[in-house]
Amino acid sequence: MSGTEVTVRVPAKVNVQLAVGAARPDGFHDLANVFLAVGLYDEITVSPADELRITCAGPDAHQVPLDATNLAARAAVALARRHGIEPRVHIHIDKDIPVAGGMAGGSADGAGALLACDALWSLGSSEAELLAICAELGSDVPFSLLGGAALGVGRGERLTPLEVGGTFHWVFAVADGGLSTPAVYAEFDRLNATSQVPPPAADPALLTALRTGDATALSSTLTNDLQPAALSLRPSLATTLATGTSAGALASLVSGSGPTTAFLTKDEDSANTVSEALLTSGNCRTARVTSSPAPGARVVS
Ligand code: C5P
Repeated sequence: MSGTEVTVRVPAKVNVQLAVGAARPDGFHDLANVFLAVGLYDEITVSPADELRITCAGPDAHQVPLDATNLAARAAVALARRHGIEPRVHIHIDKDIPVAGGMAGGSADGAGALLACDALWSLGSSEAELLAICAELGSDVPFSLLGGAALGVGRGERLTPLEVGGTFHWVFAVADGGLSTPAVYAEFDRLNATSQVPPPAADPALLTALRTGDATALSSTLTNDLQPAALSLRPSLATTLATGTSAGALASLVSGSGPTTAFLTKDEDSANTVSEALLTSGNCRTARVTSSPAPGARVVS
């Protein structure tokens, strides 16, 4: 495949459980992070170039950094370095995942660029090798490669795949502007400064609900320990959450570090109703209807 163009499709994620422990000496937090990939995708296309270059298209493209800090660029550099080659590649990101929204959009681009460059340069890396590079790039990047559903421990990068026994229907309300993940974790630390934060653990009832594909059972187990911090930094999200609940969502929660909010519904019709209510309320910039699980990063052409 060397010398041609390669396109990889990568999904967004929602955290159906995000249990956050106390801050570690390295500044990260130990997590019990139950990831579920959802059917919103970025597409990463790589082609040979004289030097590393990134372009991005899509409604939020202007918010995406096009320099060496972009996780897609960092992925190409990390892979090239490991193989002693130069990252002479043009990476184009077709962006559909909300930017800085708590849906792992940046991580998706990192995982996508890694897989795409591996194919473009005919390196034939194993999944284990790619996952190891993903873990160096960021806590959520390994899951973007894997997709489906998984429990992430440590920083969230040590993954155990989980069984999902059905389709779950979701609406995502995209907020105006992003939230910085470090800022949300810092607010979590501030809010919990005087309390004893318990060690994070996966909820067995939630894992059963995923395995049996039971949306009602899943709705009663959804938790996000970062939600109070996200609401503290962005109080208007409480109104968005309430709007989705009143419109019939089984449950509403902040997606990851936010500010995107997630609404689990009993079926696709209900998802459309919730989406319309959110759009007419004016409490979000846009609303997206989708379902899960979704496959991980895949070469599509
Ligand atoms: O790993 P990643 O680069 O995505 O993390 C971004 C930031 O989120 C970290 O710098 C840290 O502030 C916070 N974080 C954390 N604990 C985790 C994951 C992320 O505190 N497990």
